[in-house]
Amino acid sequence: MGNKQINIARPTFLGNERKYVLDALDSGWVSSIGPYIDSFEKSFAAYHGAKHAIATHNGTIALHLALAASGIGEGDEVIVPDLTFIATANSVRYCHATPILTDVSPGDWNISPEEVRKAITPATKAILPVHLYGNPAAMKEIMEIAGEHNLLVIEDCAEALGALYQERKVGTFGDIGCFSFFGNKIITTGEGGMCITNNDELAERMRILRDHGMNRNKKYWYDHPGFNYRMTNMQAALGLAQMEQVDKLIAARDEIYQAYCSELGASSVVRLQDVNGQRNVNWMFTVRITGMTFDRRDAIMDMLKDLCIDSRPVFYPISLMPFYHDAIYTPGELIHSFAISQEGISLPTYVGLTREEIKFIAESLLGCIEIAGE
Ligand SMILES: Cc1ncc(COP(=O)(O)O)c(C=O)c1O
Repeated sequence: MGNKQINIARPTFLGNERKYVLDALDSGWVSSIGPYIDSFEKSFAAYHGAKHAIATHNGTIALHLALAASGIGEGDEVIVPDLTFIATANSVRYCHATPILTDVSPGDWNISPEEVRKAITPATKAILPVHLYGNPAAMKEIMEIAGEHNLLVIEDCAEALGALYQERKVGTFGDIGCFSFFGNKIITTGEGGMCITNNDELAERMRILRDHGMNRNKKYWYDHPGFNYRMTNMQAALGLAQMEQVDKLIAARDEIYQAYCSELGASSVVRLQDVNGQRNVNWMFTVRITGMTFDRRDAIMDMLKDLCIDSRPVFYPISLMPFYHDAIYTPGELIHSFAISQEGISLPTYVGLTREEIKFIAESLLGCIEIAGE
C-alpha cells in the first residue's frame, strides 16, 4: 500500500444512473424540460415528506433562490455560521443583504444558538444554519429563537442529505431546506441543487424566480427580474437514479465512519464533531487535531500527499476573507471557528473505500501528527 492514489471523494453509481442518463439523451430532452425533472423532484420531496421540491442547477443558487423567494433584500441581516463553505454567506450577499457571521459551537462545530441570540437586531430577517460535514445543527433551539423573533429559517443541508435531527430529516425544520448535488456530495447530479418546503407560496415564488420570473399563466410575460436557475433533464436523470440508492449510499458511509472511529478512537489528540445523539451522515470524515496551527496542519496534509493520500483543510472562517470583514458580528470573538479551522482536516470519504485503505490512512495520519509535533 502507499502507491495507489486515494482521493478525498468519488461519486458512486450503483444502479440506474447510466440507463436514465442515456434515456434522457436519447429522448432529446437535454435542457430544463423533460420527465426526469418532475420525477426527481417528486422522489426528493417524498424522501423528505415535504410538499414541494424545486430542483436547481447547483446548491449555491438553491440558497440564493430560497433567500430571494423569502424576500430577503437590502438592509436585511441574515445570521450565518462563521465556519462554513463560502456559498452560505455569498448567497446572502447576492440578495444585497448582510450576512452576520457568528461563532460556532466547539462541540458540534455548527451555528451556536447562544451566539445567534446575541446577534439579533431589528434588521435580522433570517437564520441560515448549516449542517456542517453532515452533522445536524441544534434545530430545536434555532427554531425556538426564530419563533420568538419571527425570523425565517433557511437550512443549508448541502452536506447533510439524509441526516436526522430528533428522528426528523434535516431540511424539514426551517421554511426552506437547500441541498447540493456536487460530485463529492451524498448523491450527485454533476452540479445540482434542490430547495424543499411545505409552504405553497414560497414554492410558487421559487418556481417563478427559477424560470426568469416568468408568469406561470402567460408565456414570456415577466412579473419579476428572475434568474435561470433550472436543472437539466440529464442532471435530473442522474439524480433520480441516485435517489434510488440513497439509503445504501448513506449506510456505506456509516461503515466508513465506524471504521475511522475504531482506527483513530484511541488517539488522545484526534477529536471528532459531537453528534449529540443525532444521526449524522458521514459526508466527509473530518478530524480536529489538538494543538495544530495552520502551518502544522498544512504540513500534515503535505506529508499525507507524499503518501498518495488526498486530504482537505476544514473551511477557513468566512470572517478571515477580506471582503467579509465588515460583516463580522463580534470582531475578534469568533474563537471556535478559528480554532476548529486551524486544527481541522478532512480525510478520504467515499463509497468503495476499503477497510484496509482506512487503516492505512488512519495510521499515516497518526504518524504525520507525531512528526509535525516534533
Ligand atoms: C455548506 C455548503 N453550502 C453550499 C454549498 C454550495 O453547493 P454547490 O457547490 O452545489 O453550489 C456547498 C457545497 O459545496 C456547501 O458545502
